Amino acid sequence: MTGKKRKTLTYTLPEEFHVFGFSRDLLAWYDGQKRDLPWRINRDPYRIWVSEIMLQQTRVETVKPYYYAFMEKFPTVEALADAPEEEVLKAWEGLGYYSRARNLQTAAREVKARYGGIVPDKPEEISTLKGIGPYTAGAILSIAYEKPEPAVDGNVMRVFSRLLYMTDDIAKPATRIKVEHLVRQVIPVGRAGDFNQALMELGALVCVPRTPQCLTCPVFDYCLARREGVQEELPVKGKAKPPRPVHLQVAVVRRENHVLMNKRPDQGLLAGMWEFPMVESDAETPAAKQEILQDSLRNRFGMDAEVLEPLMEVQHTFSHLHWNMEVWRCDWIEGEALPAQARFVTLDEISSLTLPVAHQKIAEKLKSDQ
Ligand code: ADE
Repeated sequence: MTGKKRKTLTYTLPEEFHVFGFSRDLLAWYDGQKRDLPWRINRDPYRIWVSEIMLQQTRVETVKPYYYAFMEKFPTVEALADAPEEEVLKAWEGLGYYSRARNLQTAAREVKARYGGIVPDKPEEISTLKGIGPYTAGAILSIAYEKPEPAVDGNVMRVFSRLLYMTDDIAKPATRIKVEHLVRQVIPVGRAGDFNQALMELGALVCVPRTPQCLTCPVFDYCLARREGVQEELPVKGKAKPPRPVHLQVAVVRRENHVLMNKRPDQGLLAGMWEFPMVESDAETPAAKQEILQDSLRNRFGMDAEVLEPLMEVQHTFSHLHWNMEVWRCDWIEGEALPAQARFVTLDEISSLTLPVAHQKIAEKLKSDQ
C-alpha cells in the first residue's frame, strides 16, 4: 500500500462488560433514578420524535414548556402536517435553530402522505425523513419501537470515551460510528429504548462534561478512564471554529404608531422570520453607520428615513455567527412603495409575528418604553 499511514485505534469491550452485566447495572440505576419527563409518559413515536428534535442543542429544562405547548397545539402527525408553517414557527419561537421546526413539519407531511400518518419503524425509511439523522433515527426506533438501534449523541460519546478510555476526537464522524458499533454490542434484548435513554441520562446527570460525579456512578466499576484518573481529560474534542463576528446596524423605523418589519427570505438562516430591517457594515463612526442605514432603507424599502439616535445594543450567538447589533431609532419621512416582504405594524401586531430571539429583545424594549 502506498500513501500516508493513518493511525486508527480500535476498541473492544472489556470482558467484564458482558460478564458482570454493564447493561444490567445501568438499567437498574435508570429504573430507580430516571427523571419524569413529559415525553416518557408513553411510547407514541410522534411524541418521541418531537422531543428528540427539540432536545437537539437544547437543554431538557428549556424544552419542557415548549414541548407541552407544542403537543397541545399539534397533538398528532396530521395536526402538524396540516398546520400553517407560520403557526409552527410561532410555537418554536425562542427555541432557536428554526430549521428544526421547518424540517419537522416537512417530514410530518411526508409521513402523512407516504406512510398514512404512521412514523415508519424501519431504519431505511425513517432515515429518509427530513431532519432525521442517525441519532434521531436510533432514538425513535429504540424508544418507540424497541428496535435494537444505537442512539449516539454527544452525551453518549462522552460516556463511552470515558468508559473505554477512548482518545479519538469525538468531533469526527468516524468516532460516532465506532461508538455506535460498541453500543450495539451491549443493547439488551427488549429494553433498547430504556438502555439508550439510560446512557443519555447518565451523560446528563452523572457523567457530565467538566466534573463527572464518579462517586455516584452506577457503572463506576467498568470505567477505564476513572481507573486511570483521566475522566476529566476526556473526551477529546477538536476545536470548532469560533463564531464569525458580524456587525449589524438595525433600524426601528417609526411611522406614527407603527414600526417597519421585514420578513426574511424563505431559505437560509432564520428563514421566513420577521425582523427589524438591518444591514451588515463594519463602519466605525456613528455618522458612517447612520449613512449606511439610511442608504439601505432607501435601496431596500424605497423610503426616506431619518436615522436619529442609538436605542440599544443586542448580541446574539449562533453556532457559526456572532451578531453585534446596534439598534437605531429612525423616523419615516416619505416613500410608500414597500416591497412585498415588508410591512408597517403596531407593537401589538408584532406579538403575532415570529421573531428571532435577538429581535424579540428589541420589540420588548419598544413595548417597555411605550
Ligand atoms: N436528550 C435527548 N433525548 C433525550 C431523552 N429521550 N431523554 C432525556 N434527555 C434526552
